[in-house]
Amino acid sequence: MKNIVILISGSGSNMAAIVNAAQREDWLKKYGARVVAVISNKANAQGLVFAQEQGLATEVLDHKAFVSREAFDAALVALIDRFDLPGQPVLVVLAGFMRILTPGFVNHYAGRLLNIHPSLLPAFTGLNTHQRALDAGCKVAGATVHQVTAELDHGGILAQAVVPVLPGDTAVVLAARVLTQEHLIYPQAIVALIQKA
Ligand code: GAR
Repeated sequence: MKNIVILISGSGSNMAAIVNAAQREDWLKKYGARVVAVISNKANAQGLVFAQEQGLATEVLDHKAFVSREAFDAALVALIDRFDLPGQPVLVVLAGFMRILTPGFVNHYAGRLLNIHPSLLPAFTGLNTHQRALDAGCKVAGATVHQVTAELDHGGILAQAVVPVLPGDTAVVLAARVLTQEHLIYPQAIVALIQKA
């Protein structure tokens, strides 16, 4: 799993953290691994600008152009698998990719499909994780890097980071605190995985 394809939908700060870590830590020399492409399902995803500035291949695949979830995912597989080379299987990294994936897609990349979720799984799967953590009176919050399975926000946990919930926190403030930790644990979890592969 040396060719890393990152899927985004928005600001792409986790993608940028991974790209920066790969350069800073010279993943190519150390592990033979490189980020080969960034794919967004939204043409206006801010992260695409950063990726293009880095000289990375970028692609947009607009899910609204497809009649079904299955059709979109099949096209996405075809796009990703252009980077799936003999002896260099692709590692697919979801970084704020806000799509529910079909079992067909998930099974195709079994064991080489990662996600980061902004909660301490198995707590708070789904959306609005930070507000739900605040509403529940949680004293800590965090993020989880996990293998992706057909069940949403489940799959083997690879890394977690914990941050305190502080008095007066809003969901926005808490999200920003968690995000700084996401940027640390996601690259670390990827390195741990590609070192094992
Ligand atoms: C991150 O907080 C990530 O954990 C979350 O979206 C944000 C994307 O930020 N992902 C999910 O909620 C997935 N269910 P980014 O685009 O700046 O990396």
